Amino acid sequence: MLKRKKNAYLQHQNSNAMVTRYKIKTLTEFVIERQSEYPHAKGALTRLLNDIATAAKIVNREINAAGLVDILGTVGSTNIQGETQKKLDVYANDMFITMLKGGGECCAIASEENEKVISFQNNIAELGKYVVAIDPLDGSSNIESNVSIGTIFSIYRRKSEIGLGTLEDLLQPGVNQVAAGYIIYGSSTMLVYTTGKGVNGFTLDPSVGIFCLSHPDMKFTETGNIYSINEGNYVYFPEGIKKYIKYLQEEDKCTLRPYTSRYIGSLVADFHRNLIKGGIFLYPGTRKNPSGKLRLLYECNPIAFIAEQAGGKASDGFNRIMEIQPKTLHQRAPLITGPRKMVEKAEEYMRNFSPKMEHSPMPTEEE
Ligand code: AHG
Ligand code: MN
Ligand code: MN
Repeated sequence: MLKRKKNAYLQHQNSNAMVTRYKIKTLTEFVIERQSEYPHAKGALTRLLNDIATAAKIVNREINAAGLVDILGTVGSTNIQGETQKKLDVYANDMFITMLKGGGECCAIASEENEKVISFQNNIAELGKYVVAIDPLDGSSNIESNVSIGTIFSIYRRKSEIGLGTLEDLLQPGVNQVAAGYIIYGSSTMLVYTTGKGVNGFTLDPSVGIFCLSHPDMKFTETGNIYSINEGNYVYFPEGIKKYIKYLQEEDKCTLRPYTSRYIGSLVADFHRNLIKGGIFLYPGTRKNPSGKLRLLYECNPIAFIAEQAGGKASDGFNRIMEIQPKTLHQRAPLITGPRKMVEKAEEYMRNFSPKMEHSPMPTEEE
């Protein structure tokens, strides 16, 4: 009798262990758990992250359907960067704006697709404590070829007390970020974010529409063997970058060089692969684009925050990206990000071979 009871007890314990072992942690559970680490948190950031995740799921659905329905192609309008907007850029932009406006925690946003700050005019949103800078669809030139694309976001506490969010609320250096993250719409869809206490990745289970913790405490390796740069721009690169690329391509058994080159052309996808596998991403200033191509507020800063929280670095070749004081909403910055040692090596080449670029941008092609 006693033995039977003992067996039943053990069986019960075993099944409990199974449940515990296989218990899925959802993004919502995780964010709420983390909220308790901030004694004064009242759940506003939790709700804001939730709104972003919900918008991401809807955008994800639309991206998946893009091959089926006729929503590919350009809308015909051009954004303020002079680039032709794709339909999905517009859709994603509208969706994130709608969710953030309705959520009530965010008073204003800066988006790649809008020239000016969008301040939400309603009684609830005007009380929102946060502002968001967002690239609603990153790598949009890849949509037609079914290559991974993403969304990048950055969250700041507003500077103004109350009322309409202002430009000044958004022109904050990256060190002030409260949270940042990206969504990658790839072979699976993932949301990766940080609130300054490490980086965690969640994979969307499309059958139930829930982001599940799949990549806890993501870390860059100390160094890596991948480099990602658009080498088609080689002739326009500063000497420091040219020499650094040659260094990466040299044969050296100790450092396992030459390294391998991988470039998708979607910042989110290139960065995400490098975070998982160990590699450096570079979009330097060129003669054509002296400050590079990527935008400080909604591309460089959020990626830099994640890189640093994952133990890596993000630099413009000389300075920490997150310490740059933004002057305009859509300003660009050179970006070098990845494992700490790799970024430091690239900085060393910039200091040694392109020292003037620290304070004066490269002359443009016309000069
Ligand atoms: P977006 O689609 O938001 O304009 O961003 C595209 C960016 C970025 O995702 C990528 O790293 C870079 O453009 C690629 O630029 P090149 O085509 O010049 O390499
Ligand atoms: Mn982008
Ligand atoms: Mn974009």
